[in-house]
Amino acid sequence: MGTTKDPATPNQVQNRDAGEWPPQDNLRTLQQMRDEARLGGGVERIEGQHGKHKLSARERVDLLLDEDSLEEFDTLKSSRGGHLGGGREYLSDGVLSGHGTIDGREVCIFSQDFTVLGGSLGEAHSEKIRKAMDHAVRVGTPVIGLNDSGGARIQEGIDALAAYGEIFARNVNASGVVPQISCIMGPCAGGAVYSPSMTDFVFMVEESSYMFVTGPNVVKSVIHKDISAEELGGASVHTTKSGVAHFVMPNDILLLREVRRLINYLPSNNRQRPPILDLRDPLDRTDPALDYLVPADPNQAYDMRVLINSILDGEEFLEVHAQFARNLVVGFGRLGGGTVGLIANQPAVLAGVLDNNASVKGARFVRFCDAFNIPLVCLVDVPGFMPGPEQEHGGIIRHGAKLLYAFTEAAVPRITVTVRKSYGGAHVVMNSKHIGADMHYAWPTAEIAVLGPRGAAEVIYRREILSSSDPAATLAEKEEEYRKTFVNPFLAAKRGYIDDVIFPRDTRGRLIRALQFLEDKDTTRPKRRHGNIPL
Ligand code: HXC
Repeated sequence: MGTTKDPATPNQVQNRDAGEWPPQDNLRTLQQMRDEARLGGGVERIEGQHGKHKLSARERVDLLLDEDSLEEFDTLKSSRGGHLGGGREYLSDGVLSGHGTIDGREVCIFSQDFTVLGGSLGEAHSEKIRKAMDHAVRVGTPVIGLNDSGGARIQEGIDALAAYGEIFARNVNASGVVPQISCIMGPCAGGAVYSPSMTDFVFMVEESSYMFVTGPNVVKSVIHKDISAEELGGASVHTTKSGVAHFVMPNDILLLREVRRLINYLPSNNRQRPPILDLRDPLDRTDPALDYLVPADPNQAYDMRVLINSILDGEEFLEVHAQFARNLVVGFGRLGGGTVGLIANQPAVLAGVLDNNASVKGARFVRFCDAFNIPLVCLVDVPGFMPGPEQEHGGIIRHGAKLLYAFTEAAVPRITVTVRKSYGGAHVVMNSKHIGADMHYAWPTAEIAVLGPRGAAEVIYRREILSSSDPAATLAEKEEEYRKTFVNPFLAAKRGYIDDVIFPRDTRGRLIRALQFLEDKDTTRPKRRHGNIPL
């Protein structure tokens, strides 16, 4: 008869013989601490959040990340109590931080818990956020913050201000190194809005998220004005007027899904290229309908998104800042599998003119793409910069210069297609060859000139028009003469200012070939600390 071998290792035998092992008290304590940390401010407060159509901090993370992929940092870290004392100690200190995956790719996250002291930021809370940010930069992953916070924790005094400063410094240092995404998912005040404002993309939820430096109560006491949170800093304000937020979604669930969608277009860090996704759309697909997109009447509008959707893989476009400065469309799509950043004038809104907001919107998007190796595709139909005192006094010179600077500075592959109008300064600014576009194509309908026909005729034929017996007829005649001579793409093509005049139906194929050719473009820049973009 053989003897049964004891499967335990010598260490296990020793532990067994030592009495109760593992120590049951510690296991129980660990489980209790974990449960307590998970509950945050308690069941009642979590239900209160649900009552406001908000998910809890943990439920949000579960929806954002792939199932069971969350690894938490500092679950057992506790709040510091603060100088006002008497406060209860909260495990996890009102924020969940960690890493997990989105469609298999690592991201670092933090999610503020409004049920704990209004998600306010104290020292330990800040350290947990900083840990996620530091790991993100070291490992090279995007960092996604789910913000739901009353700002600096009043009880912790200047320690809370210091704690914010540490986060702001990290926002700046991570900028251009890893994508930073902020989701505003509750009332965010004070420091809770400065940090998101420095990140690359800000998402808001309709009717349950607010951003303000000072809330309605402070507004009332300082400037004696009654204003609701929604009117002061609701999602519609920040997506249409201030431009602080890039995306608005109807609820937490749809917002988190949209964040996952955005992540799929982005590289994890500035050393990588964006992910390739084959949508099985033929590279040489043509679209004959595009030959008829531009109306015969040069003053008639059309929707530039028809062209955008037509050329992109699977006709899939993720528009960024869709409600703000709608005269310029920006967003992500794929051409031949790889991500591109689209910047397009929108003739359907203000005739596609460039104004202050459009310039700033475009500049920021171009700089994001350039920082993260995303090629730029620019679709042009622009009558010029918006004239008038409102825009001039609002700084169109300064803001227009931002767009000019951003395009000129961009080292990623840059391709332009001029669809119709491209006049004056706006022609140069919208990624022309003169400021470094790698390829510039024009449709046969392109109008590239210093001024539009009417404006040009009024200036250069002023005397003839004034001395004519029928000024209106002379103006019309001179306008037509100017149009025939100057308003076409062929003069620019003869000079080599554009590389080719192409058939509209072939636009997708030509763009993909150009992108393939430019794939290994040298994107290094001459050494300097940084340029001085006109802010
Ligand atoms: C400590 C806070 C807090 C804060 C909210 N709470 N904000 N605790 N510090 N900053 C607590 C409340 O006391 C309350 O606790 C709980 O969170 C929920 O808050 P409510 O007011 O009941 O919620 P709501 O009505 O939804 O209003 C949310 C709010 C409001 C708009 C965020 O709470 C608010 O205005 N808070 C103060 C905002 C603020 O001024 N923050 C400081 C900014 S200065 P109980 O126990 O009663 O439920 C700043 C400077 C940083 O951030 C600058 C760095 C350079």
